Amino acid sequence: MSEQDTTTNAEKLRVVTIDGPSGVGKSTVSRRVASKLGFTYLDTGAMYRAVAYACKQAGINPANPEQQEALLILLKQLDLCLLPSNQKNDNVQVLLQDEDISTAIRSPEMSMAASKVSAVPAVRACLTTMQQEMGKAGGVVAEGRDTGTVVFPDATWKFYLDASPEERCRRRVDQLRNQGQEVDEQETLAQIIERDQNDKERTIAPLVMAQDALLIDSSSLNADEVVARMLEVVLGS
Ligand code: DC
Repeated sequence: MSEQDTTTNAEKLRVVTIDGPSGVGKSTVSRRVASKLGFTYLDTGAMYRAVAYACKQAGINPANPEQQEALLILLKQLDLCLLPSNQKNDNVQVLLQDEDISTAIRSPEMSMAASKVSAVPAVRACLTTMQQEMGKAGGVVAEGRDTGTVVFPDATWKFYLDASPEERCRRRVDQLRNQGQEVDEQETLAQIIERDQNDKERTIAPLVMAQDALLIDSSSLNADEVVARMLEVVLGS
């Protein structure tokens, strides 16, 4: 590799993207990778959840064409703040108009609502711009569905985490129960499959592996092993 190539790589080194379906362990892994690298963890899914929550509060159905005007006003006035977690679990702290909605956006209802709201073009355009702004200085580990394909196509390190729906369901159930929420396993599996379908089949920025991403199947790996694999790639190149 020429000296010039090395310089370019060094500049690009500051963005890592981690995409994949719901419940695959992206949050845990992304937060740990960010912490090890001294990077900021950018949870893009939390932003879609926050918009879904804001729409619900405002009584707006984002998919209803008759409410597009109201949706655009809501997006324009969106006062969203992501702060590093102050809890033991993996979640970032999310403030919407100064209201702490960190816990409220993690319910199964909000998961489904976020998946639906994320198919709305105006929402994607707004949040993609915000995410690019948040990541433009580098030093970011971005987690989501399209961070390697659409938000940061020039990121140097791109990972795609995958695992079977059944394995992801088992993890999600454990996670929600640990948070004290009641969960029905069959319903959770059905929701995971439905969200996969929504996320993979939408027209704009569908969940798809970037061509230059490294696929990691986490079905038989624990979080520490996935983090070690990613750090090996990031620090070893
Ligand atoms: O990662 P998560 O479960 O918190 O994401 C919630 C929903 O948001 C997910 O079902 C799809 C959507 N999403 C998206 O479309 N693009 C992203 N970059 C992140 C999330």
